[in-house]
Amino acid sequence: METIQSILASRLAAAAGDTGGIAVTVQSAQDTRFGDYQSNVAMQLAKPRRANPRQLATEIIAKLQVDDLCETPEIAGAGFINFRLKPATISAHLSALAADDRLGTPLVAARRLVVDFSSPNVAKPMHVGHIRSTILGDSLARIGRFLGHTVVADNHIGDWGTQFGMLCLAWKTLLERPALDLDPIAELERIYKIQNERCKTDPTALDAARAELVKLQSGDEENLGIWREMIRLSQAQFDTIYARLAIRFDHVFGESHYNPWLKQTVAALVEKGIARESDGALCVFSDGSVPQKDDPFLIKDENGWKDAPALVQKADGAANYTTTDLATLDFRRREFSPDEVIYVTDGRQQLHFRQLFAIWRRWQPESAFKLSHVWFGSIMGEDGKPFKTRSGDTVKLGQLLDEAEERAFATVTAKSPEMPEAERRDVARIVGIGAVKYADLLPNRQSDYVFSWDKMLSFQGNTAPYLQYSYVRIRSIFRKGGIDPASVRPGAEHPTSNDAVPLTEAGELSLAKKLAQFGEILPMILDDHRPNLLCNYLYELAGAFHSFFESCPVLKAEEPARSTRLLLCDTTARVLAKGLELLGIGVPERM
Ligand code: ARG
Repeated sequence: METIQSILASRLAAAAGDTGGIAVTVQSAQDTRFGDYQSNVAMQLAKPRRANPRQLATEIIAKLQVDDLCETPEIAGAGFINFRLKPATISAHLSALAADDRLGTPLVAARRLVVDFSSPNVAKPMHVGHIRSTILGDSLARIGRFLGHTVVADNHIGDWGTQFGMLCLAWKTLLERPALDLDPIAELERIYKIQNERCKTDPTALDAARAELVKLQSGDEENLGIWREMIRLSQAQFDTIYARLAIRFDHVFGESHYNPWLKQTVAALVEKGIARESDGALCVFSDGSVPQKDDPFLIKDENGWKDAPALVQKADGAANYTTTDLATLDFRRREFSPDEVIYVTDGRQQLHFRQLFAIWRRWQPESAFKLSHVWFGSIMGEDGKPFKTRSGDTVKLGQLLDEAEERAFATVTAKSPEMPEAERRDVARIVGIGAVKYADLLPNRQSDYVFSWDKMLSFQGNTAPYLQYSYVRIRSIFRKGGIDPASVRPGAEHPTSNDAVPLTEAGELSLAKKLAQFGEILPMILDDHRPNLLCNYLYELAGAFHSFFESCPVLKAEEPARSTRLLLCDTTARVLAKGLELLGIGVPERM
């Protein structure tokens, strides 16, 4: 079904005439005192048409046919056109939305999206830094799929690189089997740390590690066997975490998958004159095609601009992270014909991706797909420093999730001691994991956020438990009334099934208008890669629901208000559950 926003936009486009390519857009109004939707089209068109924006707005409104939907549009400020919906429009839209499996979300023109996210490293525990990539990337993939795009979720595991020389050596000399059986990644991390320390001080240890790396890279069976075992053990532990988080990937092509193409990638860059020799290494330098301040191959210091080349082959002939990413991108082009490739990593990799994208454009200028680096800030402790355990170690994701569930269990137990323990455990899992995910998704992703158990697990404020609780509250209305929610939906056996639901109260109308926005915001959230906007929407929706519920009795109301209100309740619950699902968060039926 079409959104109100897009109906208004096409009516407006018809009235505006030839816009010379300027897109006619309509936004939901920030301040609902002035209307429900707003457009700045007159202001945008005023310049090319050399017209006064308010005058132009008047002319557009004169041609505009929206009286079946809105009151007469009004002009505000410098030339905004404001629309106020008629109650009948809102009513009709609510019934259509409630009858729609997609809750009013149109399918968009399908694109092919590759989302590269999570991407932890073999033999190292997944830490809180990987959590944001995992949660953010998964949410973007979910929203993309729901909108009708073809999404390829790819986990670019770090399973190759110089550290494996040290790891092979450490495996042969330091490994303790019982410890490995107990917690493989912890044991791998332990032996890696020891080996790394040794290599720093002992040149023979460093040589030995290098020799192991050369053996591995040249296909030595023993080292390959060890390497495969390390990947298998690490993957098993990652998979446990992904299962707890309900994350799925379409592919787990690790970095090593691209080894067969590294040499030819470098050769192609050299042949095209993009990479050149510098101190024995092969590097990509600035080509001067963009202003210095936008050039990823230049940095500025006190003496002015200087080269910051990207290395694509080290002096010893080895490829690196950039080479692998270039080969990966070329693979994705061949394999998936993407319209967009989205990388979700922390902000410290910004330069890497700016360089990667620039090299790619020079290498394959004919490939026009969009490249997006969706980066995020750090997670901070309540002391304002990067989030660490009490002993100063990085917090491991598995332990973090354990603690979330434990804390949620205590809260749920305090709230509903009568609930059987097994159910309390289930609810705690949904609430605890949901709280962690939501706390991660809610802040603007580019800012750092402070990790606070108390805040994220609170039932008040903009949190997952608050939204889950709002859902549960609605479900309990239906239980209390002995009503099957499906029976109140249009099309079901129901008194109002054929009419538009008559909305009269302010609380009903505001809630219905909020519900209509669900399908309008999702495309924009994906375009901007900002699931935080979905969090805020759901929070506002829950707020609109609570105001409605305070002013409008539901079960005690007379018909037809009772049915209308039950429909508002049910649709709110469905949108809350769907919205949370798109964030990767579940809802319990009771809590
Ligand atoms: N493994 C990397 C890390 O832990 C992230 C990889 C991101 N994806 C990519 N294609 N570079 O930092």
